[in-house]
Amino acid sequence: MAYAAFRSIGAYAPSKILSNEDLAKMVDTSDEWITKRTGIKERRIAEDGEFTSDMGAKAAQIALERSGIDKSKIDMIICATISPDYFCMPSTAAIISTKLGISNATAFDISAACTGFVYVLSIAKAFIESGMKKNILVIGAEKLSAITDYTDRGTCILFGDGAGAAVVSATEDKNEAIIDVHTGADGTFADLLMSPNGGSGSAHDTLEQEATSCFMQMKGNETFKVAVKTLTKDVVDILRDNSIDSSEIKHFVPHQANLRIIKAVGEALGMSDEQVVLTVEKYGNTSGASIPMAINDIYESGRLQAGELMLLDAFGGGLTWGSALVPFAPLQK
Ligand code: UT7
Repeated sequence: MAYAAFRSIGAYAPSKILSNEDLAKMVDTSDEWITKRTGIKERRIAEDGEFTSDMGAKAAQIALERSGIDKSKIDMIICATISPDYFCMPSTAAIISTKLGISNATAFDISAACTGFVYVLSIAKAFIESGMKKNILVIGAEKLSAITDYTDRGTCILFGDGAGAAVVSATEDKNEAIIDVHTGADGTFADLLMSPNGGSGSAHDTLEQEATSCFMQMKGNETFKVAVKTLTKDVVDILRDNSIDSSEIKHFVPHQANLRIIKAVGEALGMSDEQVVLTVEKYGNTSGASIPMAINDIYESGRLQAGELMLLDAFGGGLTWGSALVPFAPLQK
């Protein structure tokens, strides 16, 4: 049987920094408030002409090079994004494939907000285990600045831009295999976090009247409470189902939404500070890109070694949630 191995990681963050001090000049907020309530100090912002696909392609190029797998062998590209280059078509994944010089690979986007990267991992795992695909490029890429309302202090302080990518490929070695991926969704909470207009659910006159019609809106405090509960349950469930103890997790990589959420979840699960991966301070919330950017952070700082077990945990608009038990299995050790 074929198993799916997580071979490599790459990421890209735009160079432009939007600091808390910058935001305090734009809305009624302060560095002190943002730091205390979110742990975020700054976030990256893409240039006007820099699209989600540009960032995704840069992250993917790095992941490809680090994988040691030739791009001609990539047979599927999946991009998790809520800020695609174009809302209907073509898919950002298809554009990325062309930017990478990859032809004939299946390419599509998925929309699962901040849980997007865990969703694409589950899809990649299923395609590889079924034998339908062998080498899959999975990407989380977001230009959230394009859908952020910079007059709304409840949301604009949170979000940033960036991309992360990984190569998942077939292996016969069960020790290298992604152990399990759990995903779920509950649309009854859809209104907690949404971009209410711009799709087929919005009236044409709304689109004409509202320049801000596609911007994200969030009921922050309610989302916060559901996030802590859901993220904790995700981990308890996946560890129990796989008879794994939390002490066996080398790197706990939660979605980077808010330091207080991450701390509350880490404490509820008894995770030590060494286990919990944090990038929220420097990148803010990059939705589908947040988990692969965080994995790249531990890789580039030399903390992620071959064979180490990562536990990914995400939560986002939809509502969606997911967790994954992923050993790092590079071909080049
Ligand atoms: O990635 C997907 C999942 N997303 C999340 O998980 C995000 C979850 N939510 C959050 O991270 C937090 O709810 C926020 C950071 C968005 C807000 O923090 P909070 O502690 O929940 O604050 P709050 O919404 O309860 O607001 C408390 C007060 C309010 O003022 P009053 O009514 O008490 O006078 C807000 O108007 O803080 C005010 N406030 C702000 N003040 C200064 C809200 N945003 C700001 C701000 N600066 N940026």
